[in-house]
Amino acid sequence: MSASTIQTPIIIGCDHAAYPLKEKVKAHLIKKNIDVADAGTDSEIPVDYSDFGAKVASQVSAGKYDRGILLCGTGLGMSMVANKFPHVRAALCNDLFSAIMSRRHNDANILVMGGRVIGEALAGEIVNAWLATPFEGGRHQERINNFESFERIEQRLGGKLENHRPLDDG
Ligand code: RB5
Repeated sequence: MSASTIQTPIIIGCDHAAYPLKEKVKAHLIKKNIDVADAGTDSEIPVDYSDFGAKVASQVSAGKYDRGILLCGTGLGMSMVANKFPHVRAALCNDLFSAIMSRRHNDANILVMGGRVIGEALAGEIVNAWLATPFEGGRHQERINNFESFERIEQRLGGKLENHRPLDDG
């Protein structure tokens, strides 16, 4: 693969369960000369993952950062929270294939990992792949446009999302 790693600043956040991995991932990014904004948390004292997920996702949603990374114990809670925010496409990737495909097909703008699921070495490889893999666009962009329109469809159809006619593109 000839893709080069993006150098955009990245905002990162975690809860207590993933604090140790967040510190490792942050150091990994800094070593790659990528600017990192750390939204916390800053210790293993229990916190609510929603609060830290929202800190990161809201900034990506608002366009202040192009990319974010979120970590909690499994990655599940953080991905659920992050995907509540408009224009956020958070992908839980605890394996390399998911990380690569989340970029190629889903243009994921937030990478989520589970601090209780994977270790430092795999997390580093996942981050590398996620940052180096470009979005393929084309039909995948149309599919993203389709699901990103769901928020507006709710308004257009008077709250009846079930009336939405799916794209017929195979
Ligand atoms: C915290 O115990 C844990 O629930 C959290 O880190 C995360 O895994 C939630 O999805």
